[in-house]
This record gives sequence, structure tokens and C-alpha cells, in this order.
Amino acid sequence: MRYIVKPIKPSIEEVDCLIVGVFKGKRLSHAAKQVDEASQGTLTKLLEKGDLAEELGKILLLYSIPGITATRILLVYCGEEVKFKFADFRKVVCCVTNAIKSMNVNRIANYLTDIEVVGLEFCYKVRHSIELTEDCFYTFDEFKTKKTDKTLNSNALSFIFNLPSSADLSQAETAIQQAEAITSGIKLTKYLANLPANVCTPNYMAEQAKKLAAEDGSLLEVKVLEKEAIEKEGMGALLAVAQGSEQPPRFAILKYNGAKEEQKPVVLVGKGVTFDSGGICIKPAAGMEEMKFDMSGAASVLGTFKAITILKLPINVVGIMPLTENLPSGTAVKPGDIVKSLSGQTIEVINTDAEGRLILADALTYSERFNPDVVIDMATLTGAIIIALGAVATGLMSNNLNLASDLEKAGEQSHDRVWSLPLWDDYQEQIDSNVADISNIGIGGGKSITAACFLSRFTEKFPWAHLDIAGTAWKSGKDKTATGRPVSLLVQFLLNRCDKATA
Ligand code: BES
Ligand code: MN
Ligand code: ZN
Repeated sequence: MRYIVKPIKPSIEEVDCLIVGVFKGKRLSHAAKQVDEASQGTLTKLLEKGDLAEELGKILLLYSIPGITATRILLVYCGEEVKFKFADFRKVVCCVTNAIKSMNVNRIANYLTDIEVVGLEFCYKVRHSIELTEDCFYTFDEFKTKKTDKTLNSNALSFIFNLPSSADLSQAETAIQQAEAITSGIKLTKYLANLPANVCTPNYMAEQAKKLAAEDGSLLEVKVLEKEAIEKEGMGALLAVAQGSEQPPRFAILKYNGAKEEQKPVVLVGKGVTFDSGGICIKPAAGMEEMKFDMSGAASVLGTFKAITILKLPINVVGIMPLTENLPSGTAVKPGDIVKSLSGQTIEVINTDAEGRLILADALTYSERFNPDVVIDMATLTGAIIIALGAVATGLMSNNLNLASDLEKAGEQSHDRVWSLPLWDDYQEQIDSNVADISNIGIGGGKSITAACFLSRFTEKFPWAHLDIAGTAWKSGKDKTATGRPVSLLVQFLLNRCDKATA
């Protein structure tokens, strides 16, 4: 898909489809009015027939309108003009994109970004339109012998956003570049997370990191630790999870050097369990296939690095991916086993299905050596976060209020939203063990919080935030698919830091 922004005249633009909004009571948007005038009131006349249902996102497609060069006019119902909210805008863009998917069109002129949305600047409307459009067109047909037609079609599509006189061209063009970089990051994350676990192994993920550096070697360095090196480091918690599997673990480190060496980096740590069976505490069979997505945190590290290398952001970022499977076998870690983490703290493994926090413990300790400014981990960590927040918000737990509020803000801007849960000391005693320093599960309620409490034992030396993406990284069920979250949030967070540094 190609995206262009320029001032366009609705009557003479040579496009296959012109998209304009209509409001409650058949009120025309600014662009619709222009079409109506150029066609001597044809639009008003046709709307009078009453075929455009007054329901947000409903569509009426018109052909051969006199006085208009465009082949088609797509009218979309946008509700009450004064009440057009961000959520309405998103819904309308999705409905329009889904309609376009089944149409034989190449060039599209879009006026929806002209419509006033409370609290949303033009640039963000462009950004969100692109991210939503790419999301609607996304298909994962890697393993289908017959590919979907849409994949072929979408390459030929070009979207032209009208540049209203009130907006700045270069800012809008930057918004397009950012959206394109973010969507290619999201697509990489989705692709990797959607891959089955027999393809996407710990080694495969590590190879993808190397591939990223090979594609853009200038600012990105990648190092991969294999099993022996992981043993030498003393990452006993990661090794405990890996010991039940035939696939050897990997530990990948990505270093993106976009700023001067003195700048302390942002460290992004992603949980990379390429398949989580639960281990000896095996999960029920129903839905277990979705545990191929348990490496979504690591996939979001790669997606974010893809986006920042495209944008060449002036910032230092380190990515860390502990990679392993979690499987039961004669060599697997057992309930009651005590393992020694890289930090030196000992952990009693009460439940082998609480494996994410084990591998993150070592990765978080490892991040100390980069002298981080902040550390953020992304992990499909707990089923409990799905109970608490569903598929809408990512769970945020942090030891630093500034960092938490920066993430909340970036979440709103990117619409890749987070919601804070408390990380009070009162919860810490739930992870006490009577035989080791810590237990890997919490007794009692608040399972997402006690998981974060566990991580907090390994993050005392730096500002840290934990993103529990178990509810947001993929959509469950028959049409299961990765969402690419929280790549958009992370890139926005990094963009904001770059803005702050130059301001
Ligand atoms: N990967 C799972 C979390 C998960 C579960 C994500 C369901 C998405 C859907 C994680 O490793 C896990 O198994 N967590 C356990 C922890 C428990 C044993 C304390 C959980 O949440 O049930
Ligand atoms: Mn698990
Ligand atoms: Zn897991």
C-alpha cells in the first residue's frame, strides 16, 4: 500500500474511489458538500432515498456521479458531527477499509481525516488511518497452499489523504513515514508470533534478530548466546525452563546505537517462550495451541527494532530476548526444584507453568550491565491479566511513576493502551518461600501483581516497567491471530523520548 498526502479537489481528482463522510440527519461533511455542489445536488438527492442507514460505519457506494471525475463515491455514516470521537473515527476507518477490500480499486482519495475528532490532530488521524488500514488488510497465509487474493491486491493500492489548509505538509509526511515504519514493525511481530512453534523455535527467533542486523547493519549490533554461554553466565532460571526441551535455549541481545555513546539506553526485554505447554504442570489440551504466541514479547522487541532502524531514531536502545520452550520430559524442571538465578537469588519452582518470570528474571538481571536509563519488559505473563483487563488494555506495573506515566501517555497517543495495577509491598509476602529466597508463584489473589512482584526482585537497580500483554498480544479463538501489540506503544514511547531530548 502507498500513502500520499496532498491537497485534493474532490470533483476533479482522478481516482477510483472518493471517501467522504455523512452525518446524522443527512448533513454533509465539508468534502461531501463539495461533491454535492459539483454534481448539482445529486448527492443530496440520492441521500433522500434513505439508503444510507444511520449507524456508525454504514456505507453507501455511488457510481457515475455527474460532474465528478472519480469513478465511485463511498459515503460513510459518521454519526453526530459534534460528537465524532476517536473511537468513532477508528470504527469508520475499519468499516471503510473492509468495504474497499472487496472492491476493484487502486487509487483512493480519503477525506475522513478532514473530519474534526475531539483531541486528535490531523497527523495522528493520518497515522491511525494507516495503522488501521494495514491491520485490516493483514493476512497470514504463509502455510496456505492457496494464497488470498487480497495479499496480491493490496500492493497496488494507493491512498491519498487530503491535506486541509490548516495542516502542515511536512508534519503530515513525517506522520506517514512513522506510520509506515510502525506498521512494518507490527507486521514483523505479527508474522513471527503467528508462526507455529515447530518453525519458530528459540534458534529461529535468534536468527531473526541477526537477520534484522544484516538488513540494516549500520546502527544495529546483535549478539546471540548459545546454551554453553548461557551456562557460563549462570542463568540458572532460564536454563531450568529450557532443560525439558530438545530445542536448546538462546539469549539474544540487540544494540541499537542511534545516539552518542554516553546516552544511557532504554532496555526492552521480551519474553520469548516459543511454546508453553506448562511443563510438568501441564496445561489443559483445549486452547493449548495458542501457547505458540508465548513469544510475543520477544517478537515485539524485534518489531520495535525494525521500526526504529527504519526511522533511524536518535536514541540508544538495547533489546534482550530470553528464548526457550517450556516442555515436560524426563529432564524437565519439577515442582519443588530450587534453581539459582543470574542475580544469585534462589527460586523455588512451585509451578513449572510460571516459567515466564523465570526467564525474565535472568534477562532483567542481565540488563543491569547496560547501565540502563529505564528497562521495560513485555511478556504474555499471566492468564489473570485477561480476567482483569480483557483484550483492551495491557497491564502496566512499574517501580517508577514517571516511567509509568510516560507509558500511559504513549498508550493513549498510539491507541495501544495500558492500565496501571498497584505494585505495593503488601503483595510481596505472597511470593515467600520457606526453602528458597523466592517462590515462583504467589499464594492467593492478584496473580498478575504477584508475578510482577517476582520480577521486581530483579529490577531494584533501575527504573522499570512491566507490560503484561497476555490479553493484548493476540486475538483468541477460531480466528486466532497476533495483533502486533505493543509495538505501536513502544515506538511512540521512544519517539516521545527523542522529542523530549531535542526540545
Ligand atoms: N504464558 C502463560 C500465561 C498465559 C495464559 C497467557 C493464558 C495467555 C493465556 C504463563 O506462562 C502462565 O502459564 N502463567 C500462569 C501462572 C500461574 C501458574 C501462576 C497462569 O497465568 O495461569
Ligand atoms: Mn506458563
Ligand atoms: Zn508462558
